Amino acid sequence: MRMLLRYKDGDRVNHWIVALLFLCAGLSGLAFFHPAFYFFSALFGGGPWTRILHPFFGVAMFLGFVGLFFRFRKRNVWKARDSAWMRESKRLLRGDEDGMPEVGKNNAGQKLVFWGMGICLVLLLVTGVMFWQPWFADGFPILARRIAVVLHALSATVLILIAIVHIYAAIWVKGSVHAMTRGTVSEAWARKHHLVWYREMTGDK
Ligand code: HEM
Repeated sequence: MRMLLRYKDGDRVNHWIVALLFLCAGLSGLAFFHPAFYFFSALFGGGPWTRILHPFFGVAMFLGFVGLFFRFRKRNVWKARDSAWMRESKRLLRGDEDGMPEVGKNNAGQKLVFWGMGICLVLLLVTGVMFWQPWFADGFPILARRIAVVLHALSATVLILIAIVHIYAAIWVKGSVHAMTRGTVSEAWARKHHLVWYREMTGDK
């Protein structure tokens, strides 16, 4: 089977570091979001340690995503064919992928995931810093901090939902996980899911 390179070694290491930090930041954050999730604090050495570590996990995840941003920003630029893809996306959900507009290296759904994650992470960083005790919180008025707490929880919720869609799609499209574990995809996978990219890579008309 002929294979095409989709993610370089550095791309994959960067991706899995961000995924791991997302788990750490997410589970430690949920631990003090609601008592029902407090048991997650056992993973991080108890309540006080969870509280100390959570903002550092968050900052590290943000910095990790900055790496992903510079690696993948070009392939996620929105093009006219992406708007057409979005308009037809109901077909995909019905299982009619062959009836969809042609796709480049990433489809419109992947691009929305990429930009959505980026926006949520910027919001999480900015709002998180605003109520990070004892370092920065005292520099902000109480009303601003209260608004920041709500926006922090909202953007975390959206990021978790986007990650669920992302992981579901990665497992649903057979062969995608191989791209992020081994770096390569089969030519047949590329032709089926990313025809324009397949042509660019192989010169096949
Ligand atoms: C267990 C969890 C995860 C799995 C199984 C997973 C799987 C994958 C796979 C298979 C791809 C390649 C898709 C393709 O090229 O068709 C990918 C790309 C990507 N993932 Fe994940 N992922 C996970 C968690 C995360 C998390 C938590 C984040 C960020 C917070 C993330 C951000 C990204 C980004 C930015 C890309 C690159 C998309 C692009 O090419 O622009 N992933 N992931």
